[in-house]
Amino acid sequence: MTVQRVLTGITTSGTPHLGNYAGAIRPAIAASRHPGVESFYFLADYHALIKTTDPLRVQRSTLEIAATWLAAGLDTDRVWFYRQSDIPEIPELTWLLTCVAGKGLLNRAHAYKAAVDRNTADGVDPDAGVNMGLYMYPVLMAADILMFKAHSVPVGRDQIQHIEMARDIAGSFNHLYGEHFVLPEAAIDASVATLPGLDGRKMSKSYDNTIPLFATPAELKKLIFSIVTDSKAPGEPKDADGSALFELYQAFATAEETRAMRTAFDEGIAWGEAKQALFEKIEATVAPMREHYQALIAEPARIEKHLHEGAAKARAIATPFLAELRHAVGLRNLAAVARPAAVEKAKAALPQFKQYRETDGRFHFKLVAADGRLLLQGEGFASPREAGSAVSALKQGAAFAVEGTKVVVDGQAVAALAEDVTPDDLREALAAFAA
Ligand code: TRP
Repeated sequence: MTVQRVLTGITTSGTPHLGNYAGAIRPAIAASRHPGVESFYFLADYHALIKTTDPLRVQRSTLEIAATWLAAGLDTDRVWFYRQSDIPEIPELTWLLTCVAGKGLLNRAHAYKAAVDRNTADGVDPDAGVNMGLYMYPVLMAADILMFKAHSVPVGRDQIQHIEMARDIAGSFNHLYGEHFVLPEAAIDASVATLPGLDGRKMSKSYDNTIPLFATPAELKKLIFSIVTDSKAPGEPKDADGSALFELYQAFATAEETRAMRTAFDEGIAWGEAKQALFEKIEATVAPMREHYQALIAEPARIEKHLHEGAAKARAIATPFLAELRHAVGLRNLAAVARPAAVEKAKAALPQFKQYRETDGRFHFKLVAADGRLLLQGEGFASPREAGSAVSALKQGAAFAVEGTKVVVDGQAVAALAEDVTPDDLREALAAFAA
């Protein structure tokens, strides 16, 4: 069986809510238990810096989200569980990817485009208030995914475009530097609920309509009783479809319990009664986790230890892979510089002139073929300069005549052909210099 790599991250800018749990954490933990799956789950704290500039909020959120994964039953021996900012290879890879990512591609990212559209509508500069973190968000996310060669990335629909961009960037890099990256695919599980929030819209930090996963029972009850419903009276039949209350119930109840609740809606259950049932259902799921969560939060050093171990495990993959990528783009050890093979070969194929002084006190030269065969023996010249100018005349392709074995340039015998060397051998050797 080929191993399937699954990777996903949660941005650490808020308090984990029911939507994070039912939509991401719970299905991810279930998937991590399948054989043949390697799961990479991480805390996207670099991404958090794009959403908030409040350091305490980033720290608090990282602690809470880490504790949530652990309290929800993540088996850290089985999965790679780490904090993004513990892996310095990720920002380094981000730069390598930045250099192959089209600006036009990033111009089209939904979050950036939405900001530009808002600014345009407001009549201000299109990039007003846009920082480069927001703009580069998809490249950082591509580095998260490509670093670990993930095949499948479970995300919400709003993230599909980011996965497509990661594929696009990976394809560009592979095209330029060789097949280093796996092209990831977004995994959208239709059976995984996107939970509605208190106001019926998608539960999201940005709508401020969330129900914290680990609220106290009293807070949880209060929030559930504040879920927006219509004004149908007790006894009046209610529509289960399209009811936020019903959808939330469904996310935590069995199929059978859900059917029974649908019937209760048809039969006109009072909203208060339905809310009480929802509260009890969620509380039954959350209560055992809450205890574990509180214990973890009370001992942050334990969480830190898990994360350090996770980082070591992740870097065991990231460090050698980044070394491979650095080499691929030319960030290489200079001591290992190889002369380009073609240059080396051409050099080796060239004949060589060698100049020296003989015991007769005169200055000689000889021409030796690449394979070491002697081609030409120079005359003795009175000075090195004269010997040198005969050599450069021959090198530069001066016309010469061959008389017997004597090679004559400008009427002067400058050298003699060595034994068995023909005038054509000499011409060919000298032609190599011209080339
Ligand atoms: N952008 C994701 C979100 O806000 C979080 C995230 C960061 C992520 N890096 C990722 C998700 C890599 C999947 C893969 O939901």
